[in-house]
Amino acid sequence: MTTAPMFEDWMKSVQVAMEQALLQYLPSVQQTPERLHEAMHYAVLDGGKRVRPLLVHAAGALFDADETELARAAVAVEMIHAYSLVHDDMPCMDDDALRRGKPTVHVKYDEACALLVGDALQSQAFDVLADGRLEPARQLSMVRLLAKASGSLGMCGGQAIDLASVGLTLSLEELEQMHTLKTGALLRVSVLLGALAGKQLSENEIAALDQYSSAIGLAFQVVDDVLDATADSATLGKTAGKDAADNKPTYVSILGLAQSQALAEKLRMEAHRALEQFGDKARRLRELADLIVQRKA
Ligand code: IPE
Ligand code: IPE
Ligand code: MG
Ligand code: MG
Ligand code: MG
Repeated sequence: MTTAPMFEDWMKSVQVAMEQALLQYLPSVQQTPERLHEAMHYAVLDGGKRVRPLLVHAAGALFDADETELARAAVAVEMIHAYSLVHDDMPCMDDDALRRGKPTVHVKYDEACALLVGDALQSQAFDVLADGRLEPARQLSMVRLLAKASGSLGMCGGQAIDLASVGLTLSLEELEQMHTLKTGALLRVSVLLGALAGKQLSENEIAALDQYSSAIGLAFQVVDDVLDATADSATLGKTAGKDAADNKPTYVSILGLAQSQALAEKLRMEAHRALEQFGDKARRLRELADLIVQRKA
């Protein structure tokens, strides 16, 4: 019997394979318009923790999904995520100059270029996912899930609420809704796409994965808020202290640090509980819940 690699080794191998897969599915920088393609490479390659691709692969492991189809789904979600970051950093949104330890796309290139990088990455993500080799009905449901998770009822909707909330005091329910949409939706779809690449899911499996995803999705943004208030820019690779400077309602501003950390820990336990029916096959998903809550950047 072969033993599974340690989590750190598994994570590294997914991250390395992901870099190759992203490069493969990005338009070449030799292709016209070269500057736009170069900026797309700049936004996507060589940076980021790749948490969403890790979730795709971890969920795929539940049902022994095909590696090529998992890589395709992981690339699609990571392209949507990278696009969301490029736009999130623009002057009309959070106006940030640092991302993944480098100048943001609109600083390195210009605003029009950053806008188009986001637009083009979004289109590319759907092109990649729609070209999958699973049976058409399942592939189409994956495309639709990604569309819903990215749009006004998902990430974009959460971003709209975030921008409309500057200077306001939100209730806990409102804050949770904002976080669930702006960050949770893409994490949830990562889990679902990975699992769906393996097989058509039963209602019961979807319910369990949804419970897991809701917990880690919210935990991820709670921890993002905590790190914004506690870590430094060099460690984060993005400007620390930005939420308070911008007067954004966050878990830290509403619950305080200690309660936010306690909430993240509670959500980690909830995520573990949701996976009970999957046994050892869910090991990577459990380890990722731990990583999401215990990360330092
Ligand atoms: C940052 O996401 C934006 C949020 C949704 C909180 P990540 O923390 O996953 O950023 P990268 O991909 O590692 O740079
Ligand atoms: C951004 O949330 C979430 C998305 C990009 C959808 P934040 O604005 O908190 O992310 P950071 O802190 O800039 O990475
Ligand atoms: Mg933002
Ligand atoms: Mg931001
Ligand atoms: Mg943040």
